Amino acid sequence: MSLLDIVSLPDPVLRRKARKVTVFDKELQTLIDNMIHTMREAPGVGLAAPQVGESIRLVVVEYPDTDDDEPDEDAPKKLYVMVNPEIVETSEDKELGVEGCLSVPGLVGEVERHTRIVVKGLNRQGKPMKVKVKGWMARIFQHEIDHLDGIVFPDRATRVWQPREGEELPLD
Ligand code: NI
Repeated sequence: MSLLDIVSLPDPVLRRKARKVTVFDKELQTLIDNMIHTMREAPGVGLAAPQVGESIRLVVVEYPDTDDDEPDEDAPKKLYVMVNPEIVETSEDKELGVEGCLSVPGLVGEVERHTRIVVKGLNRQGKPMKVKVKGWMARIFQHEIDHLDGIVFPDRATRVWQPREGEELPLD
């Protein structure tokens, strides 16, 4: 597996609308494995293909599968690989949370997101899948899917700031 370079603003690939994936070949599988590896090494809780310079609709997300807002470091995590993800249902309620992004170094921001969403897409073999997520997991999915449409968190933030030393956040 290889570590991929993560691009950051103002790289234009982060502003492009990514194209749908139609071919599920070996090249795609390698990209997925490398993205998972790169996300874990960063470390991050999610990564979208445009963040590694590939303008295609593919995201990986890995976060503890719990209701706890501040899960333990060793809490079991759930990994999602999703191709052509689409948010098909959103809760009426939204909540504010603080986000950072591997492609927006040195800034964090407060962003309002739906608390629960349903996402439809394809798995890495091209088979349909549908996930229902809430809380931080829902936030991460919304953040990653935004990347596929050229949107980064400061576009949606009510305010952004430079984090104080020790103000650590999961990045995606
Ligand atoms: Ni991000």
